[in-house]
Amino acid sequence: MKSPKISRNLRVRARQQKRETPSTMKRNFKSATPTIQAIDLFCGAGGLTCGLKKAKVKVRLGVDVDPACKYPYEYNNSATCLLKDVREIKSAELAAHFSPDASVRLIAGCAPCQTFSTYNQKASESDSRWWLLREFLRVVQELTPELVTMENVPGLAEHSVFGEFLGFLREAGYNVSDQVVRCMDYGIPQQRERLVVIASRLGPISLLPPSHFRKRTKTVREAIAGLPALEAGETNAVDPIHQTSSLSPVNLKRIRASSPGGTWRDWEPNLVAECHKKKTGQTYPGVYGRMSWDEPAPTITTQFFGFGNGRFGHPEQDRAISLREGAILQSFPPAYRFTPPDIPVRKKTIGRLVGNAVPVRLGEVIGLSFQRHLAELATAAQR
Ligand SMILES: C[S@@+](CC[C@H](N)C(=O)[O-])C[C@H]1O[C@@H](n2cnc3c(N)ncnc32)[C@H](O)[C@@H]1O
Repeated sequence: MKSPKISRNLRVRARQQKRETPSTMKRNFKSATPTIQAIDLFCGAGGLTCGLKKAKVKVRLGVDVDPACKYPYEYNNSATCLLKDVREIKSAELAAHFSPDASVRLIAGCAPCQTFSTYNQKASESDSRWWLLREFLRVVQELTPELVTMENVPGLAEHSVFGEFLGFLREAGYNVSDQVVRCMDYGIPQQRERLVVIASRLGPISLLPPSHFRKRTKTVREAIAGLPALEAGETNAVDPIHQTSSLSPVNLKRIRASSPGGTWRDWEPNLVAECHKKKTGQTYPGVYGRMSWDEPAPTITTQFFGFGNGRFGHPEQDRAISLREGAILQSFPPAYRFTPPDIPVRKKTIGRLVGNAVPVRLGEVIGLSFQRHLAELATAAQR
């Protein structure tokens, strides 16, 4: 847990930074809306970066410790992925990736969230992974970027580390907006909810509301109905990411007995797993389910490619959704590459990259919110 002394130091540093609000910013806005340059900490396969780039944010660098991130991050986003532990990174090393004329710098980050998720209620305040959020804060503190965004699971908001994070930003002179976002409200065909923080040293800021955007894909049907059909265990000949897990004979019978939106409670007793027959297992209807065509998908987790791991059955084909279908439900572009062509596809690795990602569309909404913020400041400066 953070010691009171460290918290005090953070507050002192925050107050110092507040006095350093850049006056050059006002000058810059008089000519044109400046370009945002960004660094994405804990960048994963690039969900957040891809969305920011769609919103015309220039992402200069991603940082992640997982070697599997490098290829998809760099191939799809034309940005460099530095494989390094954020705890070991010096801010001077990061600062060198911003071009010297960068007037609006964004530090974006999505520290690993298992610590705070609803599946991990036992996480204690002393869990070392909490320090990764504090490491994100350290980088913000040292670089004092004009803009900051942080995305995480809603459960984080209930912990003191989050209050500490917001407190630091406010004391350092940032205008801060935080909210829990229902991804489906922004046209992401998924029930995922995320905690989104956006902050600016330049003026008041907020996330663009869903009403700002016209209607987009919202259901499983709109997202994946056009993909080629597959059998369980089959891989599409053209797209190796459109591949599905094989099913044991009993699981094949189970999925055949499942209807969209139903649960294992609808099955014949001989198909019900022993663990679900016990009293303790009867409250878990959220596994072995099929998705419904005309609703958003359940939250895509790192295990979404397994029928028994959630409600990840295809609405009508007798199989779990494919890796590609999971990626599309996370709003990755349909041709996003996750592994080099000559490397075998590992479901576990791609499941992790896809399930951990910020939905690309949410990244885009965050980027567009920053762009709108700068455009408003430019208009005000020109008056
Ligand atoms: C929630 S995921 C980020 C997803 C990413 N923002 C995206 O949109 O695709 C968290 C990432 O943090 C990375 N990570 C975990 N510990 C780390 C550390 N100490 N330093 C750098 N990256 C780390 C994990 O490998 C994982 O890719």
